[in-house]
Formats: sequence, structure tokens, C-alpha cells
Amino acid sequence: MITIAIAKGRMQESALALLARAGIRLAEDAINSRRLALMDETGQYRFIFVKPADVPVYVEHGIADCGVVGRDVLLESEADLLLPLDLGIARCRLVVAAADPEAMTHVQGMIRVATKYAQIARTHFGARGIPVEIIQLSGSVELAPALGLADMIVDLVETGRTLRENGLTVVEEIGESTGRFVVNRASYQLKAEEVSRLLGALRAEVVVVQD
Ligand code: PRP
Repeated sequence: MITIAIAKGRMQESALALLARAGIRLAEDAINSRRLALMDETGQYRFIFVKPADVPVYVEHGIADCGVVGRDVLLESEADLLLPLDLGIARCRLVVAAADPEAMTHVQGMIRVATKYAQIARTHFGARGIPVEIIQLSGSVELAPALGLADMIVDLVETGRTLRENGLTVVEEIGESTGRFVVNRASYQLKAEEVSRLLGALRAEVVVVQD
């Protein structure tokens, strides 16, 4: 049996749709249940649904053999995993945003950056030699500039609606994030046949998007 950890939330629906196209399906009543561990229709695959940041943890510890999670989460994580496949799902951008489009030059003194992505923000500003104070939040980051907690945010943008409706604009692009298929190192060896069959089936269904 192969256990697959799926990031709950934005990734979940497209991950399950892709797996279904690759022939691994959950029964409809299972999808609609609140159970967090489910077997697929064949009984060969177990799905576990966990918070995005916990996917690398379950996979690194071998509780899950594989996982589906965003690149944004992997950049924040220090987990030692194999990353054999970009699934191209849940495509979004990691950006720096602020209320003032010229904030990068207007802010006096140390820039305060609110984010769920402390590591990504630190690396981004560090590479540019800009000293920043990172303010770690767990969500609803777009509130921070309006309430005076931060000058800027580093966050994910998908449609841009959350930024717009909170009076923020993109001031810098950091990179893109898509759903990635990750594999535990030991499972890759010990369950080589099952894992490569699964990878092959997924690869055949990944839609290659040209930018
Ligand atoms: C993400 C992200 C933004 C929003 C962007 O939040 O952090 O807040 O989605 O999407 P949009 O560009 O389509 O508006 P998420 O829903 O993951 O929840 P969070 O507030 O807990 O971060």
C-alpha cells in the first residue's frame, strides 16, 4: 500500500482530480466525508489530508510515502524529500505587496514585512541586501499593512482579488508556485515499483503549460 499526503485547501481539489485522471480514485461519499484518512477504490492507496505545512513532515518521516504540496510550502520547509514531478496544478505567484506601489523606495528605516513565508522573505530580501524585520503571521496577512503592523507583505497571489480588496498592489515578483509531487527517500527505494508506476501515471496526465 502507498500512502499519499494531500495538502488541504487550495491544492486539494486539483490534486484529487489529477490523481483520478491517473486512475486513483476516491469514492464520492468518501470525498464528501470529514474523514482525514481514506482508501482509494482499489484499496492500494491511502490518502491522508493534512495542513499544507505538515505534508513535508509526514513524507520526510515516512508516515506518507508521497505527497502533493505547493512549491511555496517546500521553500519554507527544511524537509529532505525527493521532488520528482511538477504537477502544474494550483498555479500562483509569490509576491511582495504593499499599499504604496513605490513602497520599496519610500519606506524610511527598516522595512517591516508580514508573512507566513518567513524563510522565503528572508532569502528574497537578503539576496538583494535589503535589511528587513520579518513579522511572522499564520494567515490573513493582507490585513497587516492597513492596520500598521507592517509596511509590506510577502504572500501568494492567485486571482489577485485578496490584494485588490485590501488596497494592496504587487511591488515585486518573487517566483511562481505550483503543486509538486514529493516522495520519501526510503519509499523511493523500498517501494520502487509502486512509486514509479504512480509517477508514470501522473506524468502522463500532467498538462504542460507554456508561459
Ligand atoms: C491565500 C493567500 C492569499 C489568497 C490569495 O490565502 O495567502 O490570502 O489566498 O488568493 P487570491 O489572489 O485569489 O485572492 P489562503 O486562502 O491560503 O488563506 P490564508 O489567509 O490562511 O493565508
